[in-house]
Parts: sequence; structure tokens; C-alpha cells
Amino acid sequence: MDWISFYDFKHSVIYVNERHRDVHYRNIAKDIRGYVPPHSADVLDYGCGEATSADLVAAAASHLTLVEAAPNVRAALTARYAGNGKITVLTPDEAMAKPPGSFDLIVMHSVAQYLTGAELDRLLGEFHRLVKPDGLVIIGDIVPPQMAAPAAALSLLRFGAENGFFWAAVGGLIRILLSDYFRLKKTHGLSHYTEAEMLAHLTAAGYTAKRAERNIGHNPWRMTSLARKA
Ligand SMILES: C[S@@+](CC[C@H](N)C(=O)[O-])C[C@H]1O[C@@H](n2cnc3c(N)ncnc32)[C@H](O)[C@@H]1O
Repeated sequence: MDWISFYDFKHSVIYVNERHRDVHYRNIAKDIRGYVPPHSADVLDYGCGEATSADLVAAAASHLTLVEAAPNVRAALTARYAGNGKITVLTPDEAMAKPPGSFDLIVMHSVAQYLTGAELDRLLGEFHRLVKPDGLVIIGDIVPPQMAAPAAALSLLRFGAENGFFWAAVGGLIRILLSDYFRLKKTHGLSHYTEAEMLAHLTAAGYTAKRAERNIGHNPWRMTSLARKA
């Protein structure tokens, strides 16, 4: 098993219940929507996961391309948005085959930790080709090296308390301890970056970048980087 198949497996580890999943994606969609440029923007969400509120982003854009590597998750997205003409669901290879300058905004949220440094650099290079000269690339939910697990647990509990699923979140934390997550973490690892390390990756890939004031989503200990072509 790798991280993509972990995310492809229908189980209750990632989201403690449906309410958690839906509030999680609504939060992220609202934050992404805040970055969509006002007039007719083409948006790419790379590694979008279940994206149950992608219609909120699509409503603010001229078109939204959802890219998901996990086949079952992708099939569910295709079914969910079949009636929405502003949303297309693609594989990573299909997205990478798009012509240069196809997108005004590219978002990759909560994916960088599952990529090796070399995979991240390759993708940053692809995004550099795919984004328009004045476009924006957002790398969100970057996990810093220090205290990542306690910060994730605390953020989940707080998110649960604020959204009516606190006890389900407690149960979810116990379930994740017993899941494949920690085994995979040992075998495949997770990539952590300081703010300076992520900025160095982005600079080397040809961007000028800065850290956003706040992270997208519910975990304020993680970081979001905003990058434009240098
Ligand atoms: C934590 S989920 C993030 C989903 C969504 N963006 C969000 O913020 O909720 C991680 C995503 O990374 C994707 N992923 C993991 N490893 C990947 C890889 N090597 N290439 C592309 N996507 C990958 C998984 O399929 C999954 O959708």
C-alpha cells in the first residue's frame, strides 16, 4: 500500500464521520474561493480528494479542473459532478498533458507531505508550465517538522468541538492510531518543510513566493505558500 491507495480506500479513518468530511471540504472550498481571481478564471485543484464542496469554487470560476490520483475517489468525483458543466475531473497524467498557461490558479492542498522532495520539485515544474504568466500557484497545508502530530490532533479536536463532532473526533483519533496510517508513515514517510525550506523549493522552481498569513483549512500550525512566476 502507498499513500494514494490509502486515500482510495473507503474507510472512516481520514474523516471521523460524514459531517467531518463535509465541513472539512466546505472550509477548504471557501478558502480556495477567496483566491479565485474575479473574472473568468481557470482553476486547477491538484490532489483534491473527495472535494464535496468543489461546486462552491466552480461557481466563482469559469472552470474548475479537479485532479485526483486515487481511482475510486476520482470515480466518485466524476459521478458527483456529472451534472456540473463547470467541473472536469482528470487523472494527474491528463492534467499534465494540458497546454502551457492553461490555468489562472493552481492549488495543491495537503498533498506535499505525501511526495518526496524530488516529486514535489517535478510537480512545481509542471505547475510552472501550466500556470499563466500572471497566475498564482498555492501550496497549502505544508507540514512543519516540529510537533506535527500533536498539532494535527489538537486541530481535529478543536474543529470537532466547533462543528458538533467532538466525540466522533476523539474516536477518530483512536482509530487512526490503530490504522495503516502510522505503518505507512514508517514505510513511506511523510515530508516536512520549514517555511524557508518550502520557499527554497519554490524559488528553485522559478517562482517568487511568500507564506500566506493563514493556512487554508482548519490547522493553523501548518502553512500555505503563495507563488508566482519569477
Ligand atoms: C490529505 S488528502 C488531501 C485532499 C484535499 N486536497 C484536502 O485538502 O482535503 C491527500 C491527497 O493526496 C493524494 N496523493 C497522495 N500521494 C500522491 C501522489 N504521489 N501523487 C498525487 N497525489 C497524491 C491522495 O490521493 C489524496 O487525495
